[in-house]
Amino acid sequence: MDIFAVPTKPYSDQTFGTSGLRKKVSVFGQEHYLENAVQSIFDCLDNFEGKTLIIGGDGRYYNNHALQVIIKMAVANQFGHIIVGQDGLLSTPAVSHLIQKRQAFGAIILTASHNPGGKEGDFGIKYNISTGAPAPAALGEAFSKRCANIDRYWTSKIPDIDLSKQSEINISSTLIEIIDPVIDYAEYCQEIFDFEAIKKLFSSGFKMTFDAMNAVTGPYAKYIFEEKLGATPGTVVHGKPLPDFGGLHPEPNLTYAKDLVDLAYSEQAPDLCAASDGDGDRYMILGKSFFVTPADSLAVFAEYMEKIPFYKGKFYGAARSMPTAAILDAVCQKLKKECYQTPTGWKFFGNLLESQKISLCGEESFGAGTFHVMEKDGLWAILFWLNILALTGESPKKIVQKLWKKYGRFYTKTYSYHTDAAKDVDHLIDALSSKIPTLPGKKINNFVVQKVYLFDYTDPVTNEKTTNQGVVIDLSEDARIFVRKSGTSSSGATLKVYLSQKSKTSTPDPALFLTDLETAMQDLLQIQKYMGNKAEVSAT
Ligand code: G1P
Ligand code: ZN
Repeated sequence: MDIFAVPTKPYSDQTFGTSGLRKKVSVFGQEHYLENAVQSIFDCLDNFEGKTLIIGGDGRYYNNHALQVIIKMAVANQFGHIIVGQDGLLSTPAVSHLIQKRQAFGAIILTASHNPGGKEGDFGIKYNISTGAPAPAALGEAFSKRCANIDRYWTSKIPDIDLSKQSEINISSTLIEIIDPVIDYAEYCQEIFDFEAIKKLFSSGFKMTFDAMNAVTGPYAKYIFEEKLGATPGTVVHGKPLPDFGGLHPEPNLTYAKDLVDLAYSEQAPDLCAASDGDGDRYMILGKSFFVTPADSLAVFAEYMEKIPFYKGKFYGAARSMPTAAILDAVCQKLKKECYQTPTGWKFFGNLLESQKISLCGEESFGAGTFHVMEKDGLWAILFWLNILALTGESPKKIVQKLWKKYGRFYTKTYSYHTDAAKDVDHLIDALSSKIPTLPGKKINNFVVQKVYLFDYTDPVTNEKTTNQGVVIDLSEDARIFVRKSGTSSSGATLKVYLSQKSKTSTPDPALFLTDLETAMQDLLQIQKYMGNKAEVSAT
């Protein structure tokens, strides 16, 4: 077999952020762009020759082409065993599980998560290490550094591999195995949850609609919900992974899963509506005319964790990302468990999970998980809800309302301001940071500023410091504003402002509750002054 080095030149924009390298398909389509990224990853790894590499993606446009390129490069770089999902598919949590099950050296996942796909859409590549977790910050930085200096990559002259069938192919000293992407993950879910109880729930007439958003979880959901758990055929909608996600934006939230939300609030609403994102690590839950916020959902998991046999005696503690509402902290306090606050991004949970400081973690951005895999996991979260509903016989609304009664209700709203002028976001954050010493004690709208600080994080396991993760503004009235720059924009920059306030009264008007805080946000941040009128604004 012919293995050879191809000379190449670095690109200036190849940086691995919190979720790997994410760019427009047109950027990835530039000569050697993908190859540079892949070789840079390999160049930063040691002693992988002869070992196992898993490769899969969420099925978006460019997935299949990229897979063939990476397989050829992995063979040339002397991996001994390459495992690829049939049709190039593997959800992010399924990869994480498979790494552990097959004791792989690592995995390459091709996804831009919840970002739109298609020719005009986004593409991405990320690397997960042998624990199943995403590459830690230092490794990501090493990839970026290598990308800046790369001058050659290794590839091999082998025919394209047929990914449409499960098979095993030997090429020189490398075994290429095309596997069923669903079965191992589905079996694992069955070990975690009480499938018998959930089956009974469905056979009693319980109805669910799961929207796979034309992305990777369709085949997983059809097998698990409809075949294994007996949910009515048709429970899974948008179940076929499409390269452009059928034009949908595969992000399960109130904006992009609007049809599902409308269904949940209609006369025909099933008992449970759920959705998952492009690569299957995010999820959304709705009961009849009831939206479960990700922070409330996380708190529900904490509350019921030890009722799931897999977790009995294994609730060590929990963690949430800083912008996630603090109801989890309240549950943990009651249960006498430690609760950590991490910067945004799943990778900050890795060490805490591995060292058993925590078992449960999540973010406000519709992601949650436990030590069962080292990624957030959308279908796992939905199965967790099904298991709780089967155990209690209660509705999602009832379950969350009980929680509010016990721990208080936290209202949240997140504003995103996207601009092509990335500098504007930096200027705003710099200006705010420089005002930190002068803000405490100041009256803003109906609030008094209490404490303002830059959020820096020291990993409790490794003592590694991560600085400048945003600005926290604690206000009176149990209110908080948190400001940070998004780490996953594929172009320009996005300012994110997270509002949160705990309600003292039991039934405030949800539509009006945060209006004072919104005014305070505008007064404090002067977003228009820094970002003008051109920024694209969205609120969730
Ligand atoms: C966003 C979310 C964050 C999540 C990440 C990857 O990052 O806010 O919680 O971990 O996507 O899915 P951001 O764009 O805010 O940096
Ligand atoms: Zn995702």
